[in-house]
Amino acid sequence: MEHNGDWKTLSNEALTKEEKLKWAKVCYPELVQLVQLLQSSTYTVVLTGAGMSTESGIPDFRSQSGWWKNIDPRKVATVDALEEHYSLFQEFYQTRVKALENIEPHIGHYILAKWEKKNLIQAIATQNVDGLHQKSGSKTVYPLHGSIRSFRCHHCDQAVKEEVFMNEDSCSICGGKLRPNVVLFGETLPSDVWDSAYQSIEQADLVIVIGTSLEVYPVNELPSLTKGKTVLVNVDEVSGFYPFDVIVKGKAKEVLEKLNELLEL
Ligand code: OAD
Repeated sequence: MEHNGDWKTLSNEALTKEEKLKWAKVCYPELVQLVQLLQSSTYTVVLTGAGMSTESGIPDFRSQSGWWKNIDPRKVATVDALEEHYSLFQEFYQTRVKALENIEPHIGHYILAKWEKKNLIQAIATQNVDGLHQKSGSKTVYPLHGSIRSFRCHHCDQAVKEEVFMNEDSCSICGGKLRPNVVLFGETLPSDVWDSAYQSIEQADLVIVIGTSLEVYPVNELPSLTKGKTVLVNVDEVSGFYPFDVIVKGKAKEVLEKLNELLEL
């Protein structure tokens, strides 16, 4: 986020709440706008992408350091890859599972969980498979692309433990190929999760989109379902077709921390 003013002003005890808000309105107008939208909304949904988790140490997909800059998704993240080039598929997902060791939610995840408890937001729809929203305590989470924390046989659907996926090639029951419970390109999204996300965004009067390039269908259609206000929080511009009401350029964690401070003035 551009530094429009010294954020420490908010902790200056000589200033009243009104003076602090007046200062914030001048220096960080889009943050104050978002705080006002959050306070007046009765049903708010947050839609997150990989940019929500980069500050926890998980790479995203399409940034300079993202997975898809070095690896062609068609070679590793498709049904075809699983069926025809299993060793590449397996190596890619084993690497991603291993990269999650010792990864924890950051303060931004915890702030969203706290906002849900305080009834400021009602649901989180996420493309992330890392489980960090759930781990930080958020209850109503719609994991649109599944989970990389659980595993099954692609053939017979038998659930297997992580260590089985990490050490073996095939299902002990039917010999089928093992896989994480993520949605691969070429698969449909889990219909119950999709329907819940769809309905909650349809009824929302505020949708806050955080850290996604909105390049992947069908999730990139979700923000346009709401009749309410839409806000984008992202470090980069999202090349795009979608006219957000408010755009906050910045890192998810920093933006959420600042918003939380303004809410608690
Ligand atoms: P992308 O990598 O496409 O987009 C992440 C966005 O977050 C980019 O616009 C980044 O600039 C931004 N970003 C990075 N760090 C950030 C931060 N700290 N704060 C705010 N913004 C940040 O990831 P997704 O849009 O989530 O699907 O990708 C969607 C889907 O494509 C993924 O779920 C995955 C992938 O292929 C499947 O594998 C099915």
